[in-house]
Amino acid sequence: MSSLKRKDLLDIQSLSLEEINLICKSARYFKDIFTRSVKSVPVLRGKTVCTLFYEPSTRTRISFELAAKRLSADMINVSVSTSSVVKGESLIDTVHTLEAMKADYIVMRHAASLAPHFLSKNIKASVINAGDGFHAHPTQALLDAYSILERKSSLEGLRIGIVGDIRHSRVARSDIEVFKKLGAKVVLCGPPTLVPDEFKIYGVDITYNLDEVLPDLDVINMLRIQKERQKGSLFPSLREYHRLFALTEDRMARCKPDVILMHPGPINRGIEVDNSVVESPNIIMNEQVTNGVAVRMAIFYLLAGGAPLEEMKEESAG
Ligand code: CP
Repeated sequence: MSSLKRKDLLDIQSLSLEEINLICKSARYFKDIFTRSVKSVPVLRGKTVCTLFYEPSTRTRISFELAAKRLSADMINVSVSTSSVVKGESLIDTVHTLEAMKADYIVMRHAASLAPHFLSKNIKASVINAGDGFHAHPTQALLDAYSILERKSSLEGLRIGIVGDIRHSRVARSDIEVFKKLGAKVVLCGPPTLVPDEFKIYGVDITYNLDEVLPDLDVINMLRIQKERQKGSLFPSLREYHRLFALTEDRMARCKPDVILMHPGPINRGIEVDNSVVESPNIIMNEQVTNGVAVRMAIFYLLAGGAPLEEMKEESAG
């Protein structure tokens, strides 16, 4: 298999294990390019990538833009707050406008779950989901899996904890799916109000006591408390949350020495992770950001039908 035989990348659920492995293998190749003096390759020369973000983003949007630029694509960045969306233009009309301008890829973030799926059925361009509501954030999950693979070489049998606001997290949903497909055991942890029992259908363990599982975890993914998505008060106070679930120096001392600590960002310092822990060598947040560019380059490349990697090596060296 040398390409993704699909138009869009919308979720982890529809990706086969073979496709996930192909994305990770290709990302390794693209990451090698970052160490060269010329960091771009001509894979998407003549193609146009449009980022269309209806929700705020720092990492994901910039990462997709950089990935597209390193593949030599033309870039359009639609900032919804300054576009005709604020005048009431519908999603489909906005996208047809972009298609009329011959965008080949639309990278979309939207507050509504399944908005990218709707889009994909109505346009010819490839749609890549950059996060939809609570539903999915597939490229984050793929970069998370890739980042673990760099340190551990396989996820088979690893015990991975996902801690925090699982209920409102598209990252958690996609991470669970990719980690399980790659053979890891997943344990969800947080206050009962943020870790609903329904998640058991994913074949995960659930605990409300972080200290109980901490010493057994190979990887801990700390999620952000999403204050903006919570309608009521789902735990007594941020202080109480910090006492029970934050990654503190004391808790770090009780983890495996080679534990991998992850956070998708943006981080609430002093709430889910203490300031003093952010600098720990076990935390791979910055690696996740770097790897995100390589994984997104791989996705663009594979959706474009792939190309012999040896050929690209020669062109980029020239
Ligand atoms: N991890 C993530 O999705 O971050 P942004 O919201 O900054 O894109």
